[in-house]
Amino acid sequence: MPKLIIVTREGEESSVDGQTGLSVMEVIRDHGIDELLALCGGCCSCATCHVYVDEAYADRLPPISADESDLLDSSDHRTAASRLSCQLPFDESLDGMRVTIAPEE
Ligand code: FES
Repeated sequence: MPKLIIVTREGEESSVDGQTGLSVMEVIRDHGIDELLALCGGCCSCATCHVYVDEAYADRLPPISADESDLLDSSDHRTAASRLSCQLPFDESLDGMRVTIAPEE
């Protein structure tokens, strides 16, 4: 199974097995990391699944949609590495990717 490396807001890092076919958000939640609220359940309407993605993997991710970009714009913490993790399908090509949970709004 491909690995996802998750860094919490406190800087704790864990490497977890990620099931392909889930979103990065679902992989994070499935490993009990509840500081990623993901309030809308993955339908791209809340921005509480905001993460920073390892730059080395950025070009393997789907492009940011207009909806995702609008939601990220509502965050005070948007950076060039920002993505909504519910919009990122997890698969083998992302093996070893590091995501850091963005600060709470
Ligand atoms: S879970 Fe709500 S936008 Fe991702």
